[in-house]
Amino acid sequence: MKREKIAVAYSGGLDTSVIVKWLQEKYNAEIITVTGNLGQKKELRGVPEKAYKTGAKKVYVQDLRTEFVEEYIWRALKAGALYEHTYPMATSLGRPLLAKALVEVALREKCTAVAHGCTGKGNDQVRFEAAVAALAPELKVLAPLREWEFKSREEEIEYAEKHGIPVAASKASPFSIDENMWGTAIECGILEDPTIPPPEDAFQRTVAPEKAPDKPTYVTVEFEEGVPVSLNGKSMDGVALIDKLNDIAGANAVGRLDLIENRLVGIKSREIYEAPAATVLHIAHRELERMTLDKEVAHYKAKIAHDYANLIYNGLWFTPLRSALDEFIDATQKTVNGSVKLKLYKGNVEVVGRTSPNSLYRIQLATYTSEDTFDHKASEGFIKIFSLPVKTFYQVNKNGFVRKKKGIRQRVRTVVSN
Ligand code: ARG
Repeated sequence: MKREKIAVAYSGGLDTSVIVKWLQEKYNAEIITVTGNLGQKKELRGVPEKAYKTGAKKVYVQDLRTEFVEEYIWRALKAGALYEHTYPMATSLGRPLLAKALVEVALREKCTAVAHGCTGKGNDQVRFEAAVAALAPELKVLAPLREWEFKSREEEIEYAEKHGIPVAASKASPFSIDENMWGTAIECGILEDPTIPPPEDAFQRTVAPEKAPDKPTYVTVEFEEGVPVSLNGKSMDGVALIDKLNDIAGANAVGRLDLIENRLVGIKSREIYEAPAATVLHIAHRELERMTLDKEVAHYKAKIAHDYANLIYNGLWFTPLRSALDEFIDATQKTVNGSVKLKLYKGNVEVVGRTSPNSLYRIQLATYTSEDTFDHKASEGFIKIFSLPVKTFYQVNKNGFVRKKKGIRQRVRTVVSN
């Protein structure tokens, strides 16, 4: 039998560590691990050493931060994509990129399969596998968590200890945490009870509002064609800008979310999110659009935002629909230039100023002072014609009902019944 060669999406946590060993044993496989740096700070320390120790033949750790920001995060931001109007989708956006990195290594190394550590009841398995299906349909996908014998974390830990896999860190946290530069997702443990608020130790990168400074912090974000390009007047690349803003907003308790959400697999789940930079940037971007987008485009784009968010959440990143929507969205962003100033204070974000060279806000038209140039008289004719259909309707149907003149009800009924 040909020896299997498997590329494993590896985080260094308990599940993916056990996967490395388990696949090796079950398939007599050669294992290559692939870890993506999406700006998660804690997890990456010591990953290569750990992977080798666990039995990997070759280890890849790839810095995907710039690609993540420019090709994934900014697209979602420009689209205004928030799942169920709330969640900025750090995890959902990260998965297709991790899958892409995994596939690239698998093809280069001539692997027979790829494997991931997603559970059988989550969204991430769908995102991984739909991405692999699009990018390398010939690759086999293995999802050990859907088929292995372990029934609990304890059993996995026991297996890990028996096989000399280092697990110390994974044992400590009672939560399942997924983290990258666009946000942190926290679930499991006590958080499964939706009647109680998350305990303080669930939060990883934001302080509690009560502990936030008593004075507000002001930030100014500048955008070019819908993309953030500077923070507080300082030009920065996307990675640096998001990093910095995460620190500033997180220190002001901004970006905490507590959400019951609809998973693709039909389950409702409760998850806690921390997305300081994403929260500020979505608010700032939306505000700039309010000032610069034509009304019809703005209203139409809001419908697209909903579809775009569903598409990301549901793992359909590598699809012709997403590419087509991106072209539409990019076309709308040509005039989304300018700056938004925000006040961050104890978990709250308030827009306190906006300015744009493409501003459609015309003071001569909006003002109630003598500077006003709006043609008030033109409104009369406009309203007459605008309200003509409604006037006609109520002339015919007094108070919204058919007139009680003899015979008419009868006739209407006949028409309806026909
Ligand atoms: N519910 C989120 C999503 O589907 C996050 C999933 C991962 N969460 C976690 N705590 N490991 O995008």
